[in-house]
Amino acid sequence: MKCLLTKAFPEGKSGVLEFPTMNVSETETCTLDSTTAKIAPTAVVIFGATGDLTQRKIIPAFYHLQKNCQIPDGCAIIGYARRPKTDEEFRCELKTSLDQFSHTQPVDDAVWRQLAPHIYYHQADIESPDGYRTLAERLQRLPESAAFGGNCLFYLATAPNYFGTIAENLGRAGLAPREDSRDVRRLIVEKPFGEDLTSARRLNQSLHQFFPEKAIFRIDHYLGKETVQNLLYFRFGNSIYEPLWNRRYIDHIQITVAEKIGVGARGGYYDAAGATRDMLQNHLFQLLTLIAMEPPASLDAESIRDEKVKVLRSIPISKPEELLKRSVRAQYGDGLLDGQHISAYRKEQRVAPDSTTETYVALRLEVDNWRWAGVPFYLRTGKGLYRQFTEINVVYHRPPAVLFAAICGPKLRRNCLRIRIQPGEGIHLNFNAKVPGKSMIQLVDMNFRYREDFSDYLPEAYERLMVDALIGESTLFTRRDEVEQAWQWVDRLHDAWAGENRKDLPLYPFGSMGPDEADHLLNRDGRYWAPVLDD
Ligand code: BG6
Repeated sequence: MKCLLTKAFPEGKSGVLEFPTMNVSETETCTLDSTTAKIAPTAVVIFGATGDLTQRKIIPAFYHLQKNCQIPDGCAIIGYARRPKTDEEFRCELKTSLDQFSHTQPVDDAVWRQLAPHIYYHQADIESPDGYRTLAERLQRLPESAAFGGNCLFYLATAPNYFGTIAENLGRAGLAPREDSRDVRRLIVEKPFGEDLTSARRLNQSLHQFFPEKAIFRIDHYLGKETVQNLLYFRFGNSIYEPLWNRRYIDHIQITVAEKIGVGARGGYYDAAGATRDMLQNHLFQLLTLIAMEPPASLDAESIRDEKVKVLRSIPISKPEELLKRSVRAQYGDGLLDGQHISAYRKEQRVAPDSTTETYVALRLEVDNWRWAGVPFYLRTGKGLYRQFTEINVVYHRPPAVLFAAICGPKLRRNCLRIRIQPGEGIHLNFNAKVPGKSMIQLVDMNFRYREDFSDYLPEAYERLMVDALIGESTLFTRRDEVEQAWQWVDRLHDAWAGENRKDLPLYPFGSMGPDEADHLLNRDGRYWAPVLDD
């Protein structure tokens, strides 16, 4: 993958260059940062190469890395899948899907022409050891092999039941890491990582047979989002928030991941997973750990992940009756999306007509440590909602109203720090101010918006994660103990729900903001969900 810039700076140096002779775009500038410069030529093998994820996320990520000059010469991408296809046919299919799914439009054909010749297709069965043997041979014959040598990144983008089989077959074909070799062999594993604690442990054990923990990169794509990474920078890069980031000042914290879409074509997977396995166990718990963790000893992967695990360990597991009181699950019924009628979840394709799978979950939990004891964390996520947004609201204690009781009643409004993860990325702090010309008090906003302060390109999560996996930086990937700890909590919740033996769940209309029960969860504590704002 030719990129003049990767050669222009010595390793580890950064700078901005203009490149006059490339046919990409004459005026474009490229920044070569020290991270990108560390990428060694590598063969990236994608298992599940004809699947949705490859088309929607993985190839668009490589296209943007190519566009931004982040891939060195000598890399190759090999798609591994069962259907017969030539390299050229595979490339054509990927180009069609790239045109559809790239987050920057239109796709620059000149960039694609640089990337495409380095993409290959390997037709083989995932379960047949022979396919891995021929893969190993093919890797040695590729034109780029002199550059990438034995360096391979294996991307498991298949159905999760194949993860263990693929790792084992790679190991048996001599493609796993070896102590006597300097070749870098890494494994990217997509979610879902197990469906409960037992299956997650089993999967970890089978991956570990051939790949040590440091070679395993478990994806939670929320960690690749710029705004999620900013949580650490925001908390520990400023002196004004951290002293107030504890139970003395904070009344409670809300984390919301609201989705407008329904389950679409994913009914088969989703009906076995539900919102809790699909979103809560991973994305919401990851946001929670970043909001609640202690400052790490350093920014290295293990220090950060150690602190995140401590948060998960500090979430007490309540008795089933308590868990039932503190959780709400519901399912979308018929409703409207942008004026169009949408059928209820139970009528979706490949969903059981009597399904009790939750498309919405809300809960109250606590992080029982010195910093957070007594501070509730309210988490909610759902599909088929009225808005699409991810937000964290840090709600401070109510100020004493003594001075203003006469004009605002006994309750002054609380300060709230609203961290918008997506869309309309930004951070907003509200505070009480005097209304000009009147003896009245009103909440006003102090706003930071990414797109106003940073005009730079905002990369997609998968772009960052791919670079990090290529250089072996694992901070933004979940560690074995994190995953298992999160499952332990989620399993108890599922056990409590199973004990209820419900035949139906509360319904909320598609296109609403969820079930009333989720509002009651806060209202009975004298709180309410932060109002949903326009983007
Ligand atoms: C995925 C879930 O992990 O995250 C999907 O499987 C969900 O169900 C998606 O729609 C949400 O991700 P994002 O980046 O669109 O918020």
